[in-house]
Amino acid sequence: MRFETDRPATWQVCLTCGNEAPESDPQPRCRQCGGMLEIRHRSDFTAAELLQRFTERRGKGPAASASGVWRFREVVLPSASEVISHPEGNTPLLHRAALDRWTGLTHLLLKHEGHNPTGSFKDRGMTVGVTQAWRLGARAVACASTGNTSASLAAYASQAEIPALVLVPAEGVALGKLAQALAYGAKTLLVRGDFDDCLRLVEEASTRLGVYLLNSINPYRLEGQKTIVLELLQQLGWDPPDWIVLPAGNLGNTAAFGKALREAHAWGLIARIPRLAAVQAAGAAPFARSYEEGFVTRHKVKAQTVATAIRIGDPASYDRAVRAIQETDGVVLAVNDAELLEAKAVIDACGVGCEPASAASVAGARTLVRRGKIKSDEHVVAVLTGHVLKDPGILLQ
Ligand code: F0G
Repeated sequence: MRFETDRPATWQVCLTCGNEAPESDPQPRCRQCGGMLEIRHRSDFTAAELLQRFTERRGKGPAASASGVWRFREVVLPSASEVISHPEGNTPLLHRAALDRWTGLTHLLLKHEGHNPTGSFKDRGMTVGVTQAWRLGARAVACASTGNTSASLAAYASQAEIPALVLVPAEGVALGKLAQALAYGAKTLLVRGDFDDCLRLVEEASTRLGVYLLNSINPYRLEGQKTIVLELLQQLGWDPPDWIVLPAGNLGNTAAFGKALREAHAWGLIARIPRLAAVQAAGAAPFARSYEEGFVTRHKVKAQTVATAIRIGDPASYDRAVRAIQETDGVVLAVNDAELLEAKAVIDACGVGCEPASAASVAGARTLVRRGKIKSDEHVVAVLTGHVLKDPGILLQ
């Protein structure tokens, strides 16, 4: 269907065939062609009005306004009058001289998403996804995960009192993440296979059982994850950095960042679009390979890396992420496990700390400086996606 006249405040559109669906349609993919969906908002506000609201709510309670996600509600999910919020977000932008020295940059800032309630950026998408599930009256929610998504889903679903099902690979999920899913009460299935197998299974199961799917295929998750970018832009006084560097696995976050930047520019919140750099682990780098070939082929690999969170060989949000890279004049690269662990050691040693997958952003920033792609005086924000306690096994080996 297509909303020709009288557009609602929010609707969904298929990025493949252009078919449109109402905001309340629970189907995670296009009903017509199976393509990926994107949320669109009718823009009822001027940039000045939006900025005033975002500024007024910053640092203020009660819960929903205090959230670093719902502070931006006009551009996330304007119709939600009640939300399932911890609250989340409000993560710091950090500077450490040791990391400037290590990367060769003079202005490196770290956006530390490990400061979220369950220890990763996933909480930003999950507060929106679970709010949507709750509004739709979902009888259960489900996801496949390398660990962080399942921890986050379990926490938010239990807050909303919706039963949760999570599928994780039997091998390679960090113990702490598994413990979180169990502690928050999710029905947790260990699958003999990798993340890509888990995702196939959970998509099948959700269709057959009518369970609401909360992987980042779900476009509402991305609306929440956009606020990583909105919040960092707000922290910088809406003066955008030159680059935003992030780890990339299933590519939901890369897609969300691209959408956030496109919209922030279209709404007049920023005058210029920063470039995105998506960094994969070399053993799980199908997107980097596609980028090197000008995105003519979508690759799949059997993934292997110490960074268990991004051990993904067939990223679901490939198409949406290609668009994000193209629209931001972005780059995609891979760093090997040794580089990733060296970056983690430096991030840990300056008292910040992060999980191995998160260190890909800082390792990637250094590689891009060495290649001359990023100039040393350019302003760079590297996103740390998960907390140091999330996947500590590598430190103990
Ligand atoms: N960093 C961390 C710590 C993650 O947990 C993930 C993804 C990523 C980066 C990559 O983000 O998939 O949007 O490109 N973790 C998912 C999970 C797959 O199940 O927790 P992406």
